[in-house]
Amino acid sequence: MVSGRFARAKARAAAPRSGLSCSLRMTNDPIPNLTAFDSAALDKAFAALKKQAQQDAAALGAPEAVEAFRLKWLGRKQGLLNDVSSRWLKAAPADAKKAVGERFKKLKELVERLLDEASGSGPSDAALAAEAIDITLPGTRRLTGAEHPITRTMNEIVSVFAALGYSVGVGPEVETDYYNFESMNFPPGHPARDTQDTLVVAGQERRPQRDRLLLRTHTSPVQMRTMELEPPPVRIVIPGKVHRNEADDATHSSMFHQVEGLCVDTNITFSDLKGTLDHAMKALFGSSVKTRLFPSFFPFTEPSADVQISCIFCGGKGCRKCKQSGWIELLGCGMVDPAVFAFAAEKQPAYDPKKISGFAFGMGVERIAMMKYGVSDIGQFFSGDMRFLWQFA
Ligand code: DAH
Repeated sequence: MVSGRFARAKARAAAPRSGLSCSLRMTNDPIPNLTAFDSAALDKAFAALKKQAQQDAAALGAPEAVEAFRLKWLGRKQGLLNDVSSRWLKAAPADAKKAVGERFKKLKELVERLLDEASGSGPSDAALAAEAIDITLPGTRRLTGAEHPITRTMNEIVSVFAALGYSVGVGPEVETDYYNFESMNFPPGHPARDTQDTLVVAGQERRPQRDRLLLRTHTSPVQMRTMELEPPPVRIVIPGKVHRNEADDATHSSMFHQVEGLCVDTNITFSDLKGTLDHAMKALFGSSVKTRLFPSFFPFTEPSADVQISCIFCGGKGCRKCKQSGWIELLGCGMVDPAVFAFAAEKQPAYDPKKISGFAFGMGVERIAMMKYGVSDIGQFFSGDMRFLWQFA
């Protein structure tokens, strides 16, 4: 009895060899042996293979198909070219070897080129179109934050003093009457309190006056808080928010910012104050700016002065901004009053007014920012209007 497998093999062997005109499927049919080696016969035989290779290549798309094409034609053992090489080239009579070799080389080059083209062509246009994303759609833009002009101005002022060796401190916005007023030498009932119309926290009437809470009207109370914590020498600047019961208009806001300064050591003089502030104004507004001091009054300094700078808009000639005076008043300052040191000495005895001296100053940040950036309405800083704020980004 003959096994099935053996029977099929025999049947195939008995079947007539398919001619070259028959299609070469991806599963290889063997290359027929050549019976004639003249040019016409060779041309015909190679042309059939060439045509077949081109037909195979035209149908390629997916990477697996490209690989099948490669195996079919260039496979080391079963590839058609390998077959052509052994059946046609090696079998050729000596005088036909060259003619077969030349045609073989060309066929091989063609197959390799077709393979290159098919591998490089990638997915079909249809596949690409199905996967496509529209990269022209605008994305979600993330905005970078920027310093608010008030913060920026405050930082600029602080860094001018930091460069002179000043440290930076902060204090509470909700303050006691004692720190905001009493320890700054505004005794209860003193008319100087009226210059800073105060927003107070309700329901404090039963507390002693000095403990009653209020929204600080200036950053000066942090002078006292600093001295209570640190013995002299002290050099500190204190930026912060302050509040007053004021009607808002183009130059007033019930909430605004100040930078306070305090310098205490042995032998600090009025000249130190003058030189320090002259330097600071030049650093902030440009080296051609001049400063002058004008007598003033603050309960916590004696003597006290207002600092004026030469008008940065007209250079001092006189204009609308400086009301034709050539000068603009910018900040308050003075030598620390001995009464203030006496309050500090209750906690830090080293603040003995007979042994040490100091100066202090305080400036409004909005006023400086308005001058630096040419802003005419203080409300713009707090309106949250992005068209205004963008200009500082
Ligand atoms: N605290 C004052 C105010 O708000 C400003 C000031 C003036 C602060 C003179 C000082 C100073 O330290 O010495 O009006």
